[in-house]
Amino acid sequence: PTLRTAYAEDFYIGAALGWGQILEKDSAESTLIRNEFSSLTPENAMKWMHVHPKLDTFNFEYTDKLVAMADRNDQFMVGHTLIWHNQTPEWVFRDEDNDLNDSTALFGRMKDHINAIMGRYQGKIGGYDVVNEALNDDGTFRESLFYQIGGVDFIYKAFEYAAKADPEAELYYNDYSMNRPEKCDGAVQLAKAIKAKGLRIDGIGMQGHWGLERPTLEEIEASILKIGNAGLKVMITELDITVLPNPRNVEGADLSASFENNAEANPYKNGLPDSVQMALAQRYADLFELFHKHQDIITRVTLWGVHDGQSWKNNWPARGRTDYPLLFDRSLAPKPAHQAVLGVV
Ligand code: XIL
Repeated sequence: PTLRTAYAEDFYIGAALGWGQILEKDSAESTLIRNEFSSLTPENAMKWMHVHPKLDTFNFEYTDKLVAMADRNDQFMVGHTLIWHNQTPEWVFRDEDNDLNDSTALFGRMKDHINAIMGRYQGKIGGYDVVNEALNDDGTFRESLFYQIGGVDFIYKAFEYAAKADPEAELYYNDYSMNRPEKCDGAVQLAKAIKAKGLRIDGIGMQGHWGLERPTLEEIEASILKIGNAGLKVMITELDITVLPNPRNVEGADLSASFENNAEANPYKNGLPDSVQMALAQRYADLFELFHKHQDIITRVTLWGVHDGQSWKNNWPARGRTDYPLLFDRSLAPKPAHQAVLGVV
């Protein structure tokens, strides 16, 4: 069995693909991606700065290739992400005089952006992270430029434009730390407010950039249930499990420097000890046990990458480390965690 076949009855199992994995020719990696995953997400290619770098310039090269790949492989395509405060060019928020736009101008740009992408991929992209990371950890609204200019209306507008641009596509709100009760409550409240305006939202994505110990299964389960009980689909959208210590807790840490030679923050530069490898496998088994239990609510679990070498965790929140957060190793071999995930079902 593969992840894809083992979980076929439960939920989609996806991966985020980086630039180098959006492959047109057959290779060991493209075969693995086809066999193991039933859903694909662009790790970066659809973010505003890449797909729409200038006011009148769209660059659909990579998103076209990825959509074609998902089509060939019969995989559910996820659009990530339409509206996010990161990886969005400055011009989106400014007029010709470089002054901050008013909300009408900003909303006009958002509408053009959403229409162009969703119009192009109608019937090909099944669901979109319409708005990403609009909340603080306490559930209040993040003071992004979108929020400063548009207030909470920027979120309603995004969902309004998206529903019109492709009435068939599912629409999601996506965020990290959704295991925190206040943040999850904030997201559920937001979804209810969206619905109260007569607009549509189909689900909430919990990103899932987690650690070996935290968040606890109880915390994650409470959030899954809270979202599910609000009548929304739940997706784990960006799952990876760091095995490294938080570099912010390392004495004298300077987050702007490379951590390659910091033995405390980068302990597994030369390989992962068996004990940690097995702890990672157990953590993945526990998580998938929980997801399997809630297969009625969970519609997709997406890993934030295919293999460890590709993972953004090697460079975040500190650069130059060697992390092991995914299910395939740097040579594309399945790790014990892969076997453990298969063992759940
Ligand atoms: C990350 C990518 O993995 C990196 O390659 C990029 O440099 C920064 O963005 N939350 C999200 C994702 O919603 O889009 C982010 O992806 C990780 C955090």
